[in-house]
Amino acid sequence: MTTGKSSFFSHHTLEKNIGLMIAATIAVVSMAGLVQIIPLFYQHSTTEAEAGVEPYSPLRLMGRDIYIREGCVSCHSQQVRMLQSEVQRYGSYSTAGESVFDHPFLWGSKRTGPDLARVGGRYSDAWQREHLRDPRAVVPESNMPAYPWLRSAPLAGQNVGDRMRALRRLGVPYSDKDIADAPRALAGKTEEDALVAYLQGLGLEARKGAATPRGAAPVAGAAAAATPSSTGN
Ligand code: HEC
Repeated sequence: MTTGKSSFFSHHTLEKNIGLMIAATIAVVSMAGLVQIIPLFYQHSTTEAEAGVEPYSPLRLMGRDIYIREGCVSCHSQQVRMLQSEVQRYGSYSTAGESVFDHPFLWGSKRTGPDLARVGGRYSDAWQREHLRDPRAVVPESNMPAYPWLRSAPLAGQNVGDRMRALRRLGVPYSDKDIADAPRALAGKTEEDALVAYLQGLGLEARKGAATPRGAAPVAGAAAAATPSSTGN
């Protein structure tokens, strides 16, 4: 390189050869990606359930599947980001340890409606039912679709055992007894019962488990920025 004559392993060769440049870029970016991503598969904070987070009960599990079937995720996210505005609006930010039993996860990316990660317990069951049957009855300006048929649709829970066994393969710790008892827990329930049970549990477990709510304390810098400065003009 110092001789002026460029060798194969020189910047000169690389920058003059677009094919080589593309290959080298892909190699570097892939390595960098792997270095960042692979450790996440082995970190306790991303692979183990946070304190208080338990596998879904059979009724909530069925409710979650109805949530998926009805496409609620296309308007609602379930991840509170680490932004002060979101933490103030919804509650503590979401962590990976909260979603270890979610297969697939429902973090979503479309936010037509509010984030639902902390909606459990925010309203009564009666409000949730009314809102699903006719959103505009409780929120006049709402543009959420109504789901009135869930109320009279009996919950088809015959295959709940299969669903639980499939999740167990993916690492959700259901016992044989949990699976055997599941159909009984669903007897006589409607799809609306299941969906409301699912919604009413969202975020509750994480809140119960956290000794101090994450993100509850105001961010020092932001608070200082919001206070009018006495010296500035
Ligand atoms: C077309 C977009 C859209 C779809 C699909 C949708 N929603 Fe909504 N949802 C909204 C909007 C907008 C709001 C805010 C107004 C309101 O409360 O109705 C909302 C509000 C909510 C709320 C109240 C949240 C809060 O913090 O006040 C819940 C709970 C909810 N939706 C559940 C559901 C469920 C369950 C489904 C699927 C069965 C669903 N949504 C499907 C748009 C949608």
